[in-house]
Amino acid sequence: MTTITPTLDIGQIRRLRILCISETGWHDTATVFDDIRAAGGAQTDQYSIPWPPFGPLHADNAAGFSALLEAETSDGSVRRLLFDTGWNPEWMDRRFAEEGIDRLLQEGRIEALILSHEHFDHFWGIGSTLKHCPGIAIYIPEGFHPEGLAFIRQQGHSGPLITVPSEQPVVLFPGLAVVSFPMSTLLQVQGENVLYARLQDHGLSMITGCGHGGVLNLLDYARRTFIGGEHIHAIYGGLHLSPLEDWDAQRDQIVNTLSSYGIAKMACNHCTGRVAVEKMLESGLPVLRGTARYGSQTDLFLATATCWNWGEMSGRVTDRIGTLRRTSVQG
Ligand SMILES: [Fe+2]
Ligand SMILES: [Fe+2]
Repeated sequence: MTTITPTLDIGQIRRLRILCISETGWHDTATVFDDIRAAGGAQTDQYSIPWPPFGPLHADNAAGFSALLEAETSDGSVRRLLFDTGWNPEWMDRRFAEEGIDRLLQEGRIEALILSHEHFDHFWGIGSTLKHCPGIAIYIPEGFHPEGLAFIRQQGHSGPLITVPSEQPVVLFPGLAVVSFPMSTLLQVQGENVLYARLQDHGLSMITGCGHGGVLNLLDYARRTFIGGEHIHAIYGGLHLSPLEDWDAQRDQIVNTLSSYGIAKMACNHCTGRVAVEKMLESGLPVLRGTARYGSQTDLFLATATCWNWGEMSGRVTDRIGTLRRTSVQG
């Protein structure tokens, strides 16, 4: 058997704090998938569906996925990244205001927007980011469509736009890297950026938007690529295991394999699927429960307006964001 030794040193961070700005892409899954069926099905071009902000279709159902990452680096400095920018501009404007993200953007204290992928619920709310900071650097995966690029420009972007080349990790700052994975999925979306953080004393952690590339593939990439990847500490985000709440033996196998990785903590968002999270809990995976508040419909997902601290953040760091009504969990 050949053993592959991971060789890429991305450095380390002391702490990472993830604020779940919004975990629910939409409020009602049946409505979204009915809209997709009516528009022509899974292979339809998403830009042909008149959802917000392009049209009024079921505007009240649109929400979005977005998170703020706040890292304390080994030299004690604080680095902030916005990971995805949600869908419905009205919903995102509200959430950004409630969490103080608007102010952080205006003051230039968020250094980049990392777009996981082009799906409407992660990307179409980009106006809510750009209106506060048009010059922000944006990282996109390989595979963005011309319509998506035009939309970024049309929303007023004036800063750098960086396409992350497939499977060539880009270290954003020591301890945190982004990798673009080729994939092709629902509504003609291609390519997904995944974040990997190496946490001092804890090991490697993964942050996904939807995880369309498959959670095991994405973890195995880290295990064979990054120094420290042999210990997967935590996973945050969407894992797309049962977004339509169906299940089969193959997915049981995925959960069984995941259980063998020694993961210390997990927190999922809506598109992981309730059934998937229930199966994970049954198999003993350490999934953090949320509060089912602020638009989150179940405590199986880490709720909107929840902060997850990887390692203990110093007060100096946590005080930097003056925000409202947040629940904090340690991990
Ligand atoms: Fe998703
Ligand atoms: Fe997606």
